[in-house]
Amino acid sequence: MTLMRLPDSPIIAVSGFAADLLNGLQQRPRSVSPKYFYDEAGSQLFELICELPEYYPTRTELGILAGHAEEMAAVIGPAADIVEYGAGASRKIRLLLDALEAPRRFVPLDISGEHLQQAAQRLREDYPGLQIQPLVGDFTHNLALPPAVGRRVGFFPGSSIGNFEPREALGLLSRMASSLAGGGLLIGVDLVKTPAVLHAAYNDAAGVTARFNKNLLLRANRELGADFDLDAFAHYAYYNPIQQRIEMHLVSLCRQVVRLCGERIHFAEGDSLHTENSYKYTIAGFQTLARSAGFTPQAVWTDPAQAFSVHWLAAPEGGRS
Ligand code: AVI
Repeated sequence: MTLMRLPDSPIIAVSGFAADLLNGLQQRPRSVSPKYFYDEAGSQLFELICELPEYYPTRTELGILAGHAEEMAAVIGPAADIVEYGAGASRKIRLLLDALEAPRRFVPLDISGEHLQQAAQRLREDYPGLQIQPLVGDFTHNLALPPAVGRRVGFFPGSSIGNFEPREALGLLSRMASSLAGGGLLIGVDLVKTPAVLHAAYNDAAGVTARFNKNLLLRANRELGADFDLDAFAHYAYYNPIQQRIEMHLVSLCRQVVRLCGERIHFAEGDSLHTENSYKYTIAGFQTLARSAGFTPQAVWTDPAQAFSVHWLAAPEGGRS
């Protein structure tokens, strides 16, 4: 909880986006969680990113899922009770559902209820025998799932795990290992590769990633009454090979003052707001992380260029103590 002043009021308490952005702007280095990218406009921009020629992860993962769905279905086994973390448009899960033997239930989990209901309705029409039970919530905080009706299988595609700091990723994977006891996790992970390929993926020629990044400022203007001038900030994304991550920043192009929640936020020319990390892993590096979380890596599939990987991780029986 953060305390802030409004022009004609005493001090009030704010939480969520306002508090996190305000806190993040007052810290050095300035940073804010990438989860705030995903309002309605941000989610639409992300869907456009997934179609970009330079953004290989979505296309490549879909190719891996399509090419190896039968093998994935074989390791997962029959009667799967599937939960998808951060379920999106549900294109990827369909490839799996089509290959699985008698899946019991599909639980798409997402913070955006509206998106979730629409996708669930389409799935109900196309998979009439399957129980579809959407769940609105933030899986990074609470992983409480409905009682199992089959073998618990987690599905976490898109390399979203890369947007967590390694320590947070370990915590999240450990909680998944416990809640998927006796089953396992199918997870998509982007791989370390030539920096030029990574650089292009986050600096597309059409400027969609730049709009996605700046949407955070637009969201602050819309929702919090801030007065960010979008032309006064530059999208800046680069690969940091030491940390094996893409870093996205919004860099101030001049000396400026921004109003946010009754505060005046000062930027010098060149000051950065760090908006996202996207960690890339080697296969061995990710398997080590998964083992530390309590999983047993059992299979991994990649594309011919080894750009992306999909891992099947067996969860411990009876959860982890
Ligand atoms: C959602 N996430 C895995 C994307 C990524 O590649 O880290 C978000 C993204 N940011 C810029 N482009 C895409």
